[in-house]
Amino acid sequence: MPPFAGKRILLGVSAGIAAYKSALIIRLLKQAGMEVRVVMTDGAQAFITPLTLQALSGEPVRTSLLDPGAEAGMGHIELARWADLILIAPGTADLMARLAHGMADDLLTTLCLASEAPRLMAPAMNQVMWRHPATQRNLEQLSRDGWQWVGPDAGDQACGDIGPGRMSEPEAVAEAVFKVFRPAQTSRSCHIVITAGPTREPLDPVRYLSNHSSGKMGYALAHAAARTGARVSLISGPVNLPTPAGVERFDVDSAAQMHSAAHRLAQGADIFIGCAAVVDFRAEAPAEHKIKKHQNEDSLTLILVKNPDIIADIAALPSASRPLVIGFAAETRDVEHYARDKLARKGLDMIVANDISQAGGVFGSDDNAAWLLWKTPDGQASESLPSQPKARLASDIIQRALDLLAFGETP
Ligand code: C5P
Repeated sequence: MPPFAGKRILLGVSAGIAAYKSALIIRLLKQAGMEVRVVMTDGAQAFITPLTLQALSGEPVRTSLLDPGAEAGMGHIELARWADLILIAPGTADLMARLAHGMADDLLTTLCLASEAPRLMAPAMNQVMWRHPATQRNLEQLSRDGWQWVGPDAGDQACGDIGPGRMSEPEAVAEAVFKVFRPAQTSRSCHIVITAGPTREPLDPVRYLSNHSSGKMGYALAHAAARTGARVSLISGPVNLPTPAGVERFDVDSAAQMHSAAHRLAQGADIFIGCAAVVDFRAEAPAEHKIKKHQNEDSLTLILVKNPDIIADIAALPSASRPLVIGFAAETRDVEHYARDKLARKGLDMIVANDISQAGGVFGSDDNAAWLLWKTPDGQASESLPSQPKARLASDIIQRALDLLAFGETP
């Protein structure tokens, strides 16, 4: 029997040049044994005909809310209940805006409002429209409402621009659909080691160099990892957070302490996630006694030396004891460029990058957006995860990490 026999997918097609890809998506879903019914917006019909999608899905295509003939067959509420999943591909900026406001001004938006099924969208639009604060606001709202996303990809666009907004390829969209129905990867026999929080580098017995890392993201990752059933070792710098249930915590202060704990715990582990904001430099010779103001002139010279790069050292372990290694990159500009550089330079398998230049930054905040970049057998692949509570982002990242570990790739 095909793997997803009988699963019922309501495919919403809106007005994008990528609408032709929906034909291929229908074929892939049908090949997996799924039933597909298509709803098109008015604009979508200018890009691909209902007849094409009807022939591929083997079902009449619905285009209007006020169609007595179609309603007599399966009413819109019945259709909303019928769906095991609503997939929108392509999803335009306009459709996202209407859904974010809970509008029901055509058949597709009405179905989305009337259905309790999981919802997945493959956005497709010009890169300026995608980056626009209004679209990003709608994305955030829809994520909070439970929408899941596949793509958009970055690259050449039909309009000649280059950037994020290309609809994901049909294979990636179909895989994202399968993933909704595939039991989540569990990790009972998996050992995940995570570093979190800041480090403190002593200058004298009472003073130190540190940073504003709250540890929230690392702790959210530890919590999400423990929920999958994994054995979780959390190497934590000084933070004011409770230890998540089921997590074994190792408290450290300095980068040197974090380095040795990481080495001890990560060898032979399955996944190592470096989420700590490790202080880059430490005092070459911390003073044995408190540095006195009166012993110094108007300035004080400290000699700082570089701390070891913990994650790069773990990534360089011999393959027999090397875990899958995932790093973080908090950047204020050129996020993608620096993330690619860091992935290569530190020898990582995946990097989670975020832009901390936005208002409020991410340190200490409860929400975070991320751009994931990972190695594939033929190069690199990436995915944007919209701004969302750190807890939800953490479980997405853990799931991607488990996929990468299990399958050598993530959809
Ligand atoms: O080089 P940068 O600090 O921007 O790199 C960030 C990534 O490297 C994070 O995953 C962080 O935990 C890790 N890191 C590390 N040891 C250091 C510096 C950074 O493990 N000394």
